[in-house]
Amino acid sequence: MEAYGAYRAALEDRELPAAFLDRGAFEANLDRTAARADGVPVRVATKSVRCVGVLERLLAEPGFEGLMCYTGHEAADLAAAGFDDLLVAYPVVGDDELRRVAETVVDGARIVLTVDSEEHVRRTGAAADEAGADVPLCIDLDCSTEHLSVHFGVRRSPVRTPAAALSVAETVAGTPGVHLSGLMCYEAQLAGLPDRNPANGAVENAAIRRLKERSRPVVRERRRSAAEALDAEFGLEFVNGGGTGSLEFTREDPSVTEVTAGSAYYAPRQFDWYDGLDYDPAAGYAVEVTRLPDDDVHTCRGGGYVASGPVGEDKAPVPWLPEGAELLEREGAGEVQTPVRYDGPVDLAVGDPVVMRHGKAGELCRFFEELLVVDGGEVVDAHATYRGEGKCYV
Ligand SMILES: Cc1ncc(COP(=O)(O)O)c(C=O)c1O
Repeated sequence: MEAYGAYRAALEDRELPAAFLDRGAFEANLDRTAARADGVPVRVATKSVRCVGVLERLLAEPGFEGLMCYTGHEAADLAAAGFDDLLVAYPVVGDDELRRVAETVVDGARIVLTVDSEEHVRRTGAAADEAGADVPLCIDLDCSTEHLSVHFGVRRSPVRTPAAALSVAETVAGTPGVHLSGLMCYEAQLAGLPDRNPANGAVENAAIRRLKERSRPVVRERRRSAAEALDAEFGLEFVNGGGTGSLEFTREDPSVTEVTAGSAYYAPRQFDWYDGLDYDPAAGYAVEVTRLPDDDVHTCRGGGYVASGPVGEDKAPVPWLPEGAELLEREGAGEVQTPVRYDGPVDLAVGDPVVMRHGKAGELCRFFEELLVVDGGEVVDAHATYRGEGKCYV
């Protein structure tokens, strides 16, 4: 069945807008990600998935081990749902949340918390000690690089050198209730920055590709020296790195014991723009044509599910099917209505779906309660999203 016809058939009796997961494309993306990791264990980034049913499927795959969570409450909920080996990749500083994690660790779950300062260690240690827990910690090493006064990367951790990492590790060693477990070195400027973003000019994209080339050896050396220093002094259980956009680079780094991938499976728009990546669009949503203001304009209900990050055209969702459908420049994807221009061969009538792709992977699930699993022109399954479970972490 041709692609639009298959979605139209699958969604015929469904209330729209609705989010979907294309089973064939998702499974193909999973296989490709496993091949790209080439035997290095893959930790799944939950922020890019946000759906327990999908996380379960991913962790059933050989070589997929553990989750990278984004809050302590999320990790505690996932532990209660039966998941283990949970790395919370962003600092938790609130007392209640830290206490909940510590109590969950006492109950037997492995939840590793990420720190980058004495303050983080002190807060975590206090909550852990009170709960009688021994919470494993991971130090976040900043992997941003500087190139002639250009800061290439993100602003997260102030730990930029092996010496700074050792200093945090010493604080960990002297704090009751916590111990050092891992090092995380996420090279955001390589993994999360597309090579050919259409919202940039050709010159900017060429500069990004050049900076990536220069950044790689610096990242590799910083990660090696920090991992070696920490391991020699305190012992490390894991060194995490990478993301969907950098798996080949990261898996080749001998210091790394596990790579992270989250966006790969849904393959939103952003991952169309990396050199060498070959993922199929596997998730998105369908809006319904509800009115026909002009011969070639089909106005749909819902639609404006825009991605986070610097505001730009690349964060907007786009019509995907039927092929040739496009947004109107002056209206874009709207809060409750989205006009779509289309004058192709499909007779797009009131009640028909327009299939949309979103900008960034997991954010789709912030807007929908379930993902309808489609296959061969049918809905074959449905998974509740975090939102569908009544969960909203950040
Ligand atoms: C710490 C960390 N690791 C890995 C990733 C990669 O995630 P993805 O594969 O979804 O790009 C991210 C994404 O932002 C991240 O923050």
